[in-house]
Amino acid sequence: KKVLLSGIQPSGDLHLGNYLGAIKNWKVREDEYDCFYFMADLHTITVRQDPAALRKRTINQLAQYIACGLDPEKNTLFIQSHVPQHSQLGWVLQCYTMFGELSRMTQFKDKSAKHKDNINAGLFAYPSLMAADILLYQPDFVPVGEDQKQHVEITRDIATRFNNIYGDVFKIPEPLIAKTGARIYGLSTPEDKMSKSVPDGCVFLMDEPDVIARKFKRAVTDSDRENCVRYDRENKPGVANLMNIYSTFTGKSFEEIEKEFEGQGYGVFKPAVGEVVIDALRPIQDETKRILADKAYLESVYREGAKKASYVANKTLRKVYKKIGFVQP
Ligand code: AMP
Ligand code: TRP
Repeated sequence: KKVLLSGIQPSGDLHLGNYLGAIKNWKVREDEYDCFYFMADLHTITVRQDPAALRKRTINQLAQYIACGLDPEKNTLFIQSHVPQHSQLGWVLQCYTMFGELSRMTQFKDKSAKHKDNINAGLFAYPSLMAADILLYQPDFVPVGEDQKQHVEITRDIATRFNNIYGDVFKIPEPLIAKTGARIYGLSTPEDKMSKSVPDGCVFLMDEPDVIARKFKRAVTDSDRENCVRYDRENKPGVANLMNIYSTFTGKSFEEIEKEFEGQGYGVFKPAVGEVVIDALRPIQDETKRILADKAYLESVYREGAKKASYVANKTLRKVYKKIGFVQP
């Protein structure tokens, strides 16, 4: 069976971008592939975190993975810090990652510009840890949003560099970028990707229906006064984004959507998109609440997940240690 792996940092509450760009596409592969999905808690501390909030978000994220349909019986769901091999291989791979290539990472450039008072070594070396996250499981594919493509590419470079020295240790993974939903833009800033850092334009999976409705009603459409639902990514990015969201939830094509709202303005279209999103999220929200109430179940899921993940990760780590020349313990 082919192997698939991905993770999300529990650094904020999950939003529509995470769901459409990542989790929704993970679900459809659980029968075809051996899937590993984790909460990337080690990665979150490159930026200061409030301990209690981090703990809570990590558990919430696991509950939401399950509520979004990831079945813990079919997928290995785990918390990154529970599998020590990530940190262990992360250190090794830092020694096979070049200063220059890390300096070129756009995420590092963005985050170091944003957190000038805390440009720490972890923030810089982050892609080496992400490479370890991936390579430990020898996956064929890594499904991520477009913004993570560069990190999967550096992972391939690091793996290739290592293999060139020591022989075929790592499988070279392919990024898997979804076509629709691959990039969801902020409702208030349709030039930028939807992100928790702009909460007004960000629809969180656990937002109350009235909050979701309000965010969609206030969504920025376009500056021309055309007031017509037409797909034009260049000139009407806000409308294109709403159409993309509507399309992924209803399965309708852009032409079908244009027809459906012909002669009706944004005043009708925007609340309609909101309704579709509210209806789609309702079962996920109910299920999340139900799962969160069962702490014992959640514990059993992440303990079982960590056990399965460590077993696989350890095989790769042992192989790496041996190749490098470390004495067997
Ligand atoms: P992040 O929340 O940035 O840690 O991202 C977690 C996952 O969700 C990654 O696979 C991202 O590529 C994906 N993702 C985050 N924001 C968006 C967005 N606005 N549109 C599509 N995918 C996204
Ligand atoms: N870097 C990813 C993000 O910020 C999260 C992540 C960490 C990840 N390790 C990973 C994604 C391994 C895929 C595979 O969203």
